[in-house]
Amino acid sequence: MNTLDAIRNRRSIRKYRKGIDIPMEDIRTMLEAAMLAPSARNCRPWEFTVIRDREKLNRIMDISPYTKMMETASLAIVVCGRPVSKEGQSQDFWQQDCGAAIENLLLAALELGYGTCWCGLYPSEDRYKLMQELIDTDAIPMAVIAVGEADEEPARRGFYDEAKVRFI
Ligand SMILES: Cc1cc2nc3c(=O)[nH]c(=O)nc-3n(C[C@H](O)[C@H](O)[C@H](O)COP(=O)(O)O)c2cc1C
Repeated sequence: MNTLDAIRNRRSIRKYRKGIDIPMEDIRTMLEAAMLAPSARNCRPWEFTVIRDREKLNRIMDISPYTKMMETASLAIVVCGRPVSKEGQSQDFWQQDCGAAIENLLLAALELGYGTCWCGLYPSEDRYKLMQELIDTDAIPMAVIAVGEADEEPARRGFYDEAKVRFI
């Protein structure tokens, strides 16, 4: 699949085939793609937690009401960022950096044959703090990504919109 096809074919998937085990090699490839994203000053302010435990996947649905797809997802990847590195360096663009990493992850997953859904946590304080507890981190959980084999074929929602563009 070329890059443009992947961009055009990606959809948020909210229903997955149950009982699908995603091989470690594929998980690593998705994470590698995420970590190949550009980041300001190459700070790479991201951290990733892969959740495969069914009980913890179920708890995600209590943390955010918009994550019901976790019921059928094979796994979830929590993407966290640090506004300040462990060494004390500010990483002011951490949100943009994490966003770029997430999009890379979604596209790599598609190439490997998986569907995904990006579920936002930060800046909702309730949600990201509960997620911090669930995965035991002091980094800021920005989003949780559901991953699995798609069991639905949603129509494309994105589109080119001339009204959003200016040429100067
Ligand atoms: C920052 C962000 C947060 C999102 N949060 C959720 C969410 O909590 N639950 C959900 O089902 N979808 C979530 N989405 C997915 C959007 O609803 C989806 O991308 C949008 O409707 C367009 O559909 P598409 O991804 O299939 O093109 C989120 C997307 C982004 C970028």
